[in-house]
Amino acid sequence: MNTKTQVGIIGGGPSGLMLSQLLHLKGIDNIVLEKHSREYVLGRIRAGVLEHGFAELMREAQCGERMDAEGEIHEGFYVAEGNKKRRVDLAAHTGGNSVVVYGQTELTRDLYEARAKLNGKVIHNVEDVKLHDLKSDAPHITYRSGDDVIRIDCDYIIGADGFHGVSRKSIPSDVLREYEKVYPFGWLGVLSRTKPVSPELVYAKSDRGFALCSLRSQVLSRYYIQVPLTDSVEDWSDDAFWDELKKRLPDDVANALETGPSIEKSIAPLRSFVAEPMRYGNMFLAGDAAHIVPPTGARGLNSAASDIYYLYHALVDHYEKGDDTGLDNYSEKALARIWKAQRFSWWMTTLLHTFPDSIAYDQKLQQTDLQYLFSSEAALTSLAENYVGLPF
Ligand code: APR
Ligand code: PHB
Repeated sequence: MNTKTQVGIIGGGPSGLMLSQLLHLKGIDNIVLEKHSREYVLGRIRAGVLEHGFAELMREAQCGERMDAEGEIHEGFYVAEGNKKRRVDLAAHTGGNSVVVYGQTELTRDLYEARAKLNGKVIHNVEDVKLHDLKSDAPHITYRSGDDVIRIDCDYIIGADGFHGVSRKSIPSDVLREYEKVYPFGWLGVLSRTKPVSPELVYAKSDRGFALCSLRSQVLSRYYIQVPLTDSVEDWSDDAFWDELKKRLPDDVANALETGPSIEKSIAPLRSFVAEPMRYGNMFLAGDAAHIVPPTGARGLNSAASDIYYLYHALVDHYEKGDDTGLDNYSEKALARIWKAQRFSWWMTTLLHTFPDSIAYDQKLQQTDLQYLFSSEAALTSLAENYVGLPF
C-alpha cells in the first residue's frame, strides 16, 4: 500500500507531536508514525519543568489551555548544601522570566488530544520503520502493520524517534559523529501522592549524594536521589528511599517531608549525548533522537523545543515562500543552542553530585564553585538565564 504526505514524522513523543500539530495548523500535511500505543507513551513518567519558550510553543500549537490552568509558574528554586538552603531568584535575574511546572505526561496527553481533535494522522504500533533514499528529492518511509508493508512518499522526513530510534542510525557512519559522556551514577525517582515538601524545587548537594525535591501538583510529589549504577529498584523499599532522602536534605526540609507509598519508582542513568549533523539529505533529526542531557538542569524537553521551533519555521518558509535558508541552516543553528544546554546540564550535574572517583582537589573546586555562585550576581544571572532557557 502506498500513501503520500509532505512531512513524514517518525516518533510520537512530545517532539513529533508538537511539530505535527504546528505544521497542520499551517496547512502542511504530515503523518506521525509511533512504534508504541498511546497508552504506553502516556505511561512514561518524565521531567516536569517547561521553559518559557516551550510554553509559548504549546500556546502557538493551541495546546496551552490546560497547561496555563493547571501548570504552576515558578519564579525561583532552592539550592541546598548540607544544612544550608539558598534561593535562586529566576525572575529577578532574568528580567521577570520564569518556568512552568507541568508534567511531560500531561503535556503529551494535551498534544495527543489536540491532534485527535483536528483529525491529525498519528499511526500507532507501527513496526519495522525504515527510511529510504534520504539523499534524493523523493525520500520515503516504509513500515509494517500486521502483514502489510506500507510506503509513505514524503518531501521531508523528521526523525523525532528518541534516543533508541531508527532515524539517527540511518545516517551513514562516516557522516555521523557522536559525542557521549556517561556519568557514574543514576537517579532513583519516586512519585507519591503526598503534599510537596516545598512550593519551589529544592536541588540538594550533600555528602551522601545529590537529591531533588520536585512536584507535579499540590498533591503529587516527585523526589529523586543519586544512586550508584549498580543499584536496582528492588534494592530500594519505600522506607529506605524516604530515609535516605531525608538524610540528604537540610533539617527543616527533612522534618517537613510528608511520606507515603510510591506510585512509581524507577532508576534513570545520567548521560550526555549529541549527534552531528542533525540533517542528512532530506531527513532532519529533532529532540532526543539527536541529543540527551542529564536531568539536573531540566533541559531535556526544552532542548527539543528549539529544534521544533527552528524546523517548524524552516518548513513553513519552504512551503509558503520557497525559502530554504532555514532548512539549510537548521543543523548548525540547532546544534549551537544544544551545545549550550549540554554545557549547562553538565555544569549543574558536576556542581551538585558526588563523584565516586573525585580527588580532594575536585571536591575543593566543587565547593568553591557553589560559594562563588552565591557570592556573585553575575554567576547567579548566568545560572538563571540558562535555567529559564536561552533565547531560540
Ligand atoms: N519507529 C517509530 N517510533 C519510534 C521508533 C521507531 N523505530 N523508535 C522510537 N519511537 C518512538 C518512541 O516510542 C517514542 O514515543 O519515538 C518517540 C520518541 O519520543 P521521546 O523519546 O519522548 O523523544 P522526544 O519526543 O524527542 O522528546 C524529548 O522526552 O526523553 C524526554 O528528556 C526528553 O523531555 C525530553 C523529551
Ligand atoms: C522533575 O520534576 O521530574 C524534574 C524537575 C527538575 C529537574 C529534573 C526533573 O531538574
